[in-house]
Amino acid sequence: MSPPSDSDALLQSLDDAIRGGTVPVHALDDRRYVKAHRAFEQSSPQQAQIRHRLEAEARQLIEAGRGPLNVLSVGCGCGMLDHSLLVHLTEHVESFVGVDPNPAAVAHFRQTLSSKRPLPPTRIECTRFEDLQSDRRYDFIYCSHVFYYVEDRVSTFQRMCSQLRDGGTLVIAHAPKTAMNALAQVFWSEHQQADFFDDDLHQLIKTHWPSPPATHDISAGIPRTLFSDNTSQGTLLLEFLLQAEWAPLPSPVQDQVQSYIDRHTQSVPGGRAVLPHPVTTFALRHGTPSRSGSSGAKNAE
Ligand SMILES: C[S@@+](CC[C@H](N)C(=O)[O-])C[C@H]1O[C@@H](n2cnc3c(N)ncnc32)[C@H](O)[C@@H]1O
Repeated sequence: MSPPSDSDALLQSLDDAIRGGTVPVHALDDRRYVKAHRAFEQSSPQQAQIRHRLEAEARQLIEAGRGPLNVLSVGCGCGMLDHSLLVHLTEHVESFVGVDPNPAAVAHFRQTLSSKRPLPPTRIECTRFEDLQSDRRYDFIYCSHVFYYVEDRVSTFQRMCSQLRDGGTLVIAHAPKTAMNALAQVFWSEHQQADFFDDDLHQLIKTHWPSPPATHDISAGIPRTLFSDNTSQGTLLLEFLLQAEWAPLPSPVQDQVQSYIDRHTQSVPGGRAVLPHPVTTFALRHGTPSRSGSSGAKNAE
């Protein structure tokens, strides 16, 4: 039977099959998650743009005389983003702490740090941020693509704020609800937890932070051709998209996923077909009204 042509019908059909319990959906284990995440970020220009935003915020602090900075990365994962940021800011960082509960990601990050050129003192803690035994405070805290996984978002956000020094900056990067995130929600076993996107985060910040955050919309895209299960990289991309293993899925389900991706592929200048991979960043500056985006309106990148 050919897949339904309409995107909503496709999603509904996948949802029905998964809720019906006939589709074997296996969450990614820690090691597979790290591989899939790395493949995804390596295929997208998004992470470099997040890094540019983080660097711009850190440089504002440095120019305001706050350096060298004590930096905390919440949900650092395997450290792809952090390592690149540290290389760019080396001489302005006094110390770096990364926190992540995935042991495979933490091992990868520690390995990278030990094999690369000298960096500022670093410590990588293998735990959930909520469980970190420390009340240390930082000049610069950031958290990229983590809030989907957090159980108590308000208390996690408040904890980050409380660990910010006077005059420090917190930056959170979080995705808007896109068609691809809707697809992941269908497959994600922790279904309820996944339903939290940039508008929800914006609302949370407005409720729990005294001034409007400076926000930036970042648009990025991943070439459609990469999402092919004929290659190991393509399989990893599909797995990160679904947050589930690809191989156990029956072929009609795989076909429906590919059809759904086709429906949401866009043409960009130069004629390339890409799958949109946007993100929003929120910068919260402690003790100072936000300078850019002070109205709270989004500034396009
Ligand atoms: C999509 S990855 C993002 C990694 C990295 N921040 C980046 O942007 O490349 C999400 C990470 O959040 C971590 N994570 C999930 N729950 C967490 C929690 N409660 N505290 C800290 N990190 C968490 C996961 O283990 C995973 O490594």
